[in-house]
Amino acid sequence: MANPSAEREQWGSRLGFILAAAGSAIGLGNIWRFPYVTAENGGGAFVVVYLACIALICLPYLFAELALGRNSQKNPVGAIKAIRQGTPWVLVGGLCVLTGVFILSYYGVVAGWALGYIFKAFVAPGIDSTQYFTSFVADPARVIPLAGVFMLVTILVVYGGVEDGIERWAKVLMPLLLVLMLVVIFRAVTLPGAGAGLEFYLNPDFSKIDGGVILAALGQAFFSLSLGMGAMITYGSYLPKRENLLVSGGYVALFDTSIALLAGLMIFPALFAMNQDPGSGGPALIFQVLPEVFATMPLGSFISAVFFVLLSIAALTSMVSLLEVVVSYFVDETSWSRAKSVWMVGGFTFAAGLPSALAQGGSTFLTEQVSLFGVTGFFSIMDYLWGNVSLALGALLISIFVGWVWGTGRAVEELQQGSEDFFEGPIARVWVVFLKYVCPIVIAVIFVGKVTGTI
Ligand code: TRP
Repeated sequence: MANPSAEREQWGSRLGFILAAAGSAIGLGNIWRFPYVTAENGGGAFVVVYLACIALICLPYLFAELALGRNSQKNPVGAIKAIRQGTPWVLVGGLCVLTGVFILSYYGVVAGWALGYIFKAFVAPGIDSTQYFTSFVADPARVIPLAGVFMLVTILVVYGGVEDGIERWAKVLMPLLLVLMLVVIFRAVTLPGAGAGLEFYLNPDFSKIDGGVILAALGQAFFSLSLGMGAMITYGSYLPKRENLLVSGGYVALFDTSIALLAGLMIFPALFAMNQDPGSGGPALIFQVLPEVFATMPLGSFISAVFFVLLSIAALTSMVSLLEVVVSYFVDETSWSRAKSVWMVGGFTFAAGLPSALAQGGSTFLTEQVSLFGVTGFFSIMDYLWGNVSLALGALLISIFVGWVWGTGRAVEELQQGSEDFFEGPIARVWVVFLKYVCPIVIAVIFVGKVTGTI
């Protein structure tokens, strides 16, 4: 039994929505993933490709997810069902829900690391941060309970519902994160030797761009904006008709991209000041570099603790959105209550995350022996499959669905509601061209090229 839509919750205010959606977008993806993916893909040139992906693919696509969500007032499966019930398109909604579960499973593990690092500056000052990280993440007795605590808090927030749970937290904590990042950047860029890092990060060497770099940039752009698995369909579904989707969506993309770029400014100057090889850090990067920066600051231990508190909170607002997608599916489409959905999904996801928790040295098999499509280690395989491939596939299918099946006429009409005559004429026509042609073709070419190894 589906719930009657009259009972559907809504955001309390425009600012509340923007901050909750920005809270979903801003997370470990910006601060933990963006720097190491940039480092692995050649620095400045990657950043340029990344920005192009945001502007040309992700932004037009974001409006499609928001429009579909607000129009249907449903979760991703329900939204597609409302338009094409009983067709294979419904499976796309299913892919969204599955992707949510599996991204959440390994994301929660990294969130647990961030939580553990709140205490690091106090319990292990002066210990070499690379050594500390390696032994910390390989210790199941630490990472598993930390991931568990994190999942529990996420469950409690999502249980609290849309306005009181998700929105209230996002409003206070996101601005605080920004301020603290600016403080850390100030320290990082004034370290001796920081210039080489700025050079690597901001001066693009275009010869480094190849198919792998472009796919990584596209995948990172979708991941960072929480696109390709219906999170923005779900968040859009709690929006009232008077809301201007274009302006709100634009702010979300702007905030998210700014925070990612700032995270790079925090890491690269410090990395080069410490004479480390950028490509070698991988998922460990920020956990190895930032403690070294904090160690050079007055009140460093305190700043370190506050920083990891805020990083944990940024991760929390993102985890909340991932869980919310899956929970909204069970609430809308089955007879499960919100309480039951939250506990069942949260519990299952925690269990599904255990192999990822053990894949940074906890289990040699999961760390070094499993490999798939040239990716080694269970954790990296999950991130590649769900955080990269599945998001690109989901975005491809959803853009085709909105552009060609639901139809851009209806999507434009939805976007016009609340947009005060802004989304008319040429602007709307340009958007239609991007959604119908540019997004699917570019995604498909990159995707097929990469999977078949031709680019
Ligand atoms: N965007 C978040 C981040 O950058 C992660 C995230 C939350 C996400 N919801 C998502 C990623 C949905 C993909 C899809 O940390």
